[in-house]
Amino acid sequence: LAQQSTEQWRPAIHFSPKKNWTNDPNGLIYINGNYHLFFQHNPQGNEWGNMSWGHAKSKDLLHWEELPLAIPHGKEYIFSGCVVYDKDHVSVLGDPSKPLLIAIYTADYPNTLQEQHLAFSNDEGLTWTKYAQNPVLSINLKDFRDPNIIYHGPSKQFVMTVVKPWEYTAQFYGSKDLIHWSLLSEFGPQGDVDMIWECPSLLELPVENSKEKKWVLALSSQGPYKKAVGMQYFVGNFDGKTFTNDAPKEQVNYVDYGRDFYAAIPFYNTANTETFWLGWMLSWSYAKEQPTFPWKGQMSLARTLSLVRTSQGLKLKQVLKPDLTKMKPSFEAKNLVLKGSKTLSGMKFLQSKTYVIELKVDAANAKQWGIELGDEAKQNPELTRIGFDEKSQDWFIDRRLSGEIPAPGFDVIQSAPFVAGEDKVMQLVVDRSTIELLAQDGLVAISSLRFPKKKETVRLVSLGGELRIKELRIWEVK
Ligand code: FRU
Repeated sequence: LAQQSTEQWRPAIHFSPKKNWTNDPNGLIYINGNYHLFFQHNPQGNEWGNMSWGHAKSKDLLHWEELPLAIPHGKEYIFSGCVVYDKDHVSVLGDPSKPLLIAIYTADYPNTLQEQHLAFSNDEGLTWTKYAQNPVLSINLKDFRDPNIIYHGPSKQFVMTVVKPWEYTAQFYGSKDLIHWSLLSEFGPQGDVDMIWECPSLLELPVENSKEKKWVLALSSQGPYKKAVGMQYFVGNFDGKTFTNDAPKEQVNYVDYGRDFYAAIPFYNTANTETFWLGWMLSWSYAKEQPTFPWKGQMSLARTLSLVRTSQGLKLKQVLKPDLTKMKPSFEAKNLVLKGSKTLSGMKFLQSKTYVIELKVDAANAKQWGIELGDEAKQNPELTRIGFDEKSQDWFIDRRLSGEIPAPGFDVIQSAPFVAGEDKVMQLVVDRSTIELLAQDGLVAISSLRFPKKKETVRLVSLGGELRIKELRIWEVK
């Protein structure tokens, strides 16, 4: 039976491969005016397997051009990893007259061994040569993966973060030449150790409204519905050798409270002015069942990262990159009072389009408020509800009735706690099947998929009372 293509669900400004499977983003790097995205890819099928690196590039992080397969697998699967710019040719690989990119990734010998391999490219990532003396790092472990590298100025070395998944441990290695690596220290177990640790990264982030910078260790861990969300982070210090967590060992900080945000890693940014990342928008819990064809898997939008001092201590803030809300809105309304549900004139044309909606509210006496995406049916309506619950003080995305439910347990309410003392602002990106809620200026994130089957309208909703909207703005994105 020929499978139907599901282009109606393909996001327009979130990367998805033309065909076949993807999971984690890999080797994110900005160089010579282009953002490069490598990705875990099965070049032969729409399910996990034959793991290789796919490749795409973009000038604006919104529109991606898919390029030929970058690193094909051999006997070894090419698992997740990173790309760095070897500006000074310290590795002494390749052609010294051309810019040199170094990929360091996990070579996976299924069920046997994982070790860190190197490949290099002199043509901006189009073609790669696997280093003849691989591995560059092995500790003879079956599970030892996902290297991510930064250049650490003060200690004049590259620092690799890599995990021992089943030990909930991140390791740090240092190197001057990207080839010889020596162990600096280990971190963990700390925080959430419900599920294995994967895809770590070490980031130095600015603390807003101060001159201070702090180090953040971010990582992914997820699995069948045992745990709802996939990424956590620790805030502390890194001195070139050791990462220390400022918070008590047990404290857990989540990056995103949606089911569909995983394996985010930062761009290796040669301009070095800010730190931004993007993640895989899917969950291992039902990735196999994602009902899309001929592709499976898509990336989140890129998000600029910083830390904010809140009533709950330092919190990660994620702002869209580019910040679409800095553009001129396609529709704007001010000082509205709303009861029940309503479609404003500027919302009528959004059907099946890609857009961002921002709501700034004084909640007044509404019990629950937000945005509803759905059809008009009275019976068996299709509905994705996004908003805030005044009683539980939670932001939420409710996809229980959102259309196709690809796997048991997909039909849930995903919620995130309100950050006390900050404004009630919500920003919602809707890109067909792919939605991202960034609330409270990016202190709260919920990323989620949903698969509507019917044409949907966009409505503002206020339940159980009145909602005072200070400002509503909409940006249609093309
Ligand atoms: C995370 C992950 C990584 C691994 C890759 C394999 O989603 O399991 O740990 O490198 O996917 O595709």
